[in-house]
Amino acid sequence: MDVNKLIQLAATAKSRDISSLFSDTKRVDNYSLSAANLFLDYSKQNINNEELTALFTLAKHLGLVEKIQAQFSGAKINNTEGRSVLHTVLRAPNEQKREVLKAQAQEVINTEQRMSEIVADVCSGKLTSSTGEAFTDVLAVGIGGSFYGIKVGLSALKPYHSTGLNVHIVANVDGAALQEKLTQLLPQTTLVVVISKTFTTQETLLNALAIKAWLCAALPENCIEQQCFAISTNIEKVTEFGICEHNILPMWDWVGGRFSLWSAVGLPLALAIGNDNFSRLKLGAYQMDQHFKNAEFEQNMPVILALTGTWNRNALDYPSLAILPYDHALRALPGYLQQTDMESNGKSVSVKGEKIYWKTAPIVFGQEGTNGQHAFMQLMHQSDDIIPTDFIVALNGSSDFKAHHQVLVANCFAQAEALMQGKNLNQAQQELENSGISEQQINELAPHKVMKGNTPSNTLVIDKLNPETLGALLALYEHKIFVQGVLWQINSYDQWGVELGKVLGTDVLKAMNNEQVSNLSASTTALIRKFQAGCIT
Ligand code: F6P
Repeated sequence: MDVNKLIQLAATAKSRDISSLFSDTKRVDNYSLSAANLFLDYSKQNINNEELTALFTLAKHLGLVEKIQAQFSGAKINNTEGRSVLHTVLRAPNEQKREVLKAQAQEVINTEQRMSEIVADVCSGKLTSSTGEAFTDVLAVGIGGSFYGIKVGLSALKPYHSTGLNVHIVANVDGAALQEKLTQLLPQTTLVVVISKTFTTQETLLNALAIKAWLCAALPENCIEQQCFAISTNIEKVTEFGICEHNILPMWDWVGGRFSLWSAVGLPLALAIGNDNFSRLKLGAYQMDQHFKNAEFEQNMPVILALTGTWNRNALDYPSLAILPYDHALRALPGYLQQTDMESNGKSVSVKGEKIYWKTAPIVFGQEGTNGQHAFMQLMHQSDDIIPTDFIVALNGSSDFKAHHQVLVANCFAQAEALMQGKNLNQAQQELENSGISEQQINELAPHKVMKGNTPSNTLVIDKLNPETLGALLALYEHKIFVQGVLWQINSYDQWGVELGKVLGTDVLKAMNNEQVSNLSASTTALIRKFQAGCIT
């Protein structure tokens, strides 16, 4: 059995009205569950018991039970790079680290301790800058997985910023991003953290070199040794860059960049929220790991999120997924999940290297609610495209504005309801009849007020956003993406698709510097000439 069987099952579902499924008075109870302090209501999904059962059968047929065990035990499931996928072990208790990592466990434990020591020493003032001053700011530089996880953590856990350090992070190679930060900082009170798993990423290295020059221009010659830290697998390149061995925190090839927040990549976040809160973040993720490993599929939150997502993608043929956190603190989550989901599962070749003939990762987009209601919700309600949606909301807000929070949550629930209910022509006409306008006006206006509805959604509810629930939330999506990779029979852990752009980027740079390059189109060549001329005419 493979994904194509779902398409046959979907024939009936496509023409079904989701609201009709609620004739089953037990639907809300049967299509919702709790795990690791999260509550998932998936009753607004366009799926019934028979279809869900078929999905569970497909998952088991594709070896999901065995593949979960293989991942957690360190099998090299990233087959094209010959690597294990063990970011989960970074948040497990030390005895589980030793069981899985064997001899390497001690290096991981030592790195955690070193990370905790850096945070403690910076906060206590034991670690000072090259001018002997206490650090007030942290400037982290990294991109992709060396950026997004930290960004989500810094914004989501703002109320838990307990160290007093101002933590900034730069990713883009656009100098404007770095300049914006440097103008806010003083070299003598800034601790720098360079994050790059490979230490070959062009953007990060260029930014790191500029930061190094900024420090050296203002400070004593030991400033790099005293104020710069790095997180990487490439110790040799980091040392060449000039960061001393003692300030290099290793990461390992079995930690994918987009899954690396739990490693020393999280140092900038720990410098903001402190060691205890960083441990709480990992504890929340660990609790979701345990749920994922042990819960029956029928009561397994990541599995259900994955299966309903695959049902929407492959059976109902919906090409995108909206991530709508109704929570200002989670505003960076859609961007984080764009990388985690689309860089993991945006593929069309199977683990075995064969072309696959079913769709894979959806196009993930979104932004914080209620802002999205004034941006793309019009399309979601009145275009012909059905866009499955994950609503995420906390029952208890983090601000003192209780009335604001009630309106925020009401809007979240209302949008999920509106996307499901819609408004048909008859309802639009009746609504207009009550407005007193003429019959002709009603007939002209009513079609413009019809809303398709029948849009499936999940509502993920958190009691309160804190380090544990954020950890559980991020781990939930990591496991969802793993399960979907199994269903789609792809390798979710490599990212060869980013290579071509990097190679061509180097070629374009050469052409801009008048070096001979032969593989660029006339369009790109002409654009390069405009860049060189510095004007469009
Ligand atoms: O986006 C491609 C990618 O390789 C990501 O997988 C990774 O997180 C990012 O670039 C940065 O890579 P590095 O941490 O090696 O600088």
